[in-house]
Amino acid sequence: MHFSKFAGFALCGLAMAHPGVHEPNSYSHVAKRNFLHNARRSLDLCADHLEKRGLNERARARRSAILQKNKRHTIHARNTNETVSKDHHSSLSVTSSTSESELFSSNPVCILAPEGEVGPFWVKGEYIRQDVSDDEPGVPLYIDGQFIDINTCEPIENLYWDVWNCNSTGVYSGIQNSANGNGNDAANLNRTFLRGLQKTDSDGVAQFKTVFPGHYSGRTTHIHVIAHTDAEVLSNNTLTGGSIPHIGQLFFDQDLINEVEALYPYNTNTVSITENIDDHVVQDETEDSTSDPFFEYALLGDTVEDGIFGWVTLGVNVSASYDASYAAHLTSSGGVSDSSSSIGGGSGGGGSGGPGGF
Ligand SMILES: *[C@@H]1O[C@H](CO)[C@@H](O)[C@H](O)[C@H]1NC(C)=O
Ligand SMILES: *[C@@H]1O[C@H](CO)[C@@H](O)[C@H](O)[C@H]1NC(C)=O
Ligand SMILES: *[C@@H]1O[C@H](CO)[C@@H](O)[C@H](O)[C@H]1NC(C)=O
Ligand SMILES: *[C@@H]1O[C@H](CO)[C@@H](O)[C@H](O)[C@H]1NC(C)=O
Ligand SMILES: *[C@@H]1O[C@H](CO)[C@@H](O)[C@H](O)[C@H]1NC(C)=O
Repeated sequence: MHFSKFAGFALCGLAMAHPGVHEPNSYSHVAKRNFLHNARRSLDLCADHLEKRGLNERARARRSAILQKNKRHTIHARNTNETVSKDHHSSLSVTSSTSESELFSSNPVCILAPEGEVGPFWVKGEYIRQDVSDDEPGVPLYIDGQFIDINTCEPIENLYWDVWNCNSTGVYSGIQNSANGNGNDAANLNRTFLRGLQKTDSDGVAQFKTVFPGHYSGRTTHIHVIAHTDAEVLSNNTLTGGSIPHIGQLFFDQDLINEVEALYPYNTNTVSITENIDDHVVQDETEDSTSDPFFEYALLGDTVEDGIFGWVTLGVNVSASYDASYAAHLTSSGGVSDSSSSIGGGSGGGGSGGPGGF
């Protein structure tokens, strides 16, 4: 078996718990190890299959095309490593003439675990759209995700990738809550910035244009992910029904975060920064495992201000199905708060969720 394509291979996202409830660690550790063991084996078995199918080649070509389209001058590409305690800042520095195969020689695979933490700020019923920026200021971020069924090694077509992240100063749209910016800002319920869904194509791929997230109290910089399968698209371009085989969060290298945080308007946020190494969700998703829920990335220009392109391949157990609690839902007459499932909803308010559990 050739593992070359999995050399830079990241297993991601394994905080296991019952839906909506953060389980005691004793349970989750055993379950997580079992899952990791099985899933890792499944993905190892997938490696050859994906190569033969030409999927990795197409993924490399696609990512390269996105990069070519959006980049300015020099590209600095960095590979993920398998644990968060290591620096993800790679020494690889390439120019625009570097070949695609060199740039994308490692194809990170991130196993989407049976639910990680949804957190308290999911808004259900957001729009299906690729550009979720809504004119929010900050560093442009393009993300490319490829979803693979870990049981069949086939790409998962027609999966809806639901993402949400806070803006450059650490506030989520769609939520009115004192733990989310100005708790008196009722107008925020109607905002939809940095939230949306995209459908995967026949290669299991979907893309977004968003804005690099800022930070808020108790959490490192992250992007929330829900994967929907068998869902129905409504005439107003939102999703209903189906099931959720994954809930999780994706992360960025600390040095990249630091570069972004030094820029305006990120640097106007006076809330103290929590680094990856101190983040409980990063720990949940990486401890006792080779899990690496970090984006591999390249800069689109000479500086981070020009934009960032992040990519990841995600392995999903499509047989699994979980509940995701939401803090609000979007309707034709604006956002509506669901206070009963608000703070603590995603983590049950207990376990390692706590006040920083979002
Ligand atoms: C991760 O980093 C360590 C040390 O920094 C290195 O020895 C190892 O080869 C790296 N692994 C991958 C998969 O890049
Ligand atoms: C982030 O979002 C909040 C809520 O809409 C807003 O008050 C704040 O100005 C935004 N940050 C920036 C830098 O625009
Ligand atoms: C996938 O999910 C099914 C249903 O929950 C479960 O029985 C199976 O063990 C899971 N597979 C892995 C690798 O965790
Ligand atoms: C979309 O349509 C559904 C079904 O009619 C409705 O419940 C929902 O409020 C609508 N959402 C938006 C954002 O218009
Ligand atoms: C949200 O938008 C709806 C119309 O879509 C409007 O009726 C409502 O007043 C708005 N709410 C706020 C708080 O601005």
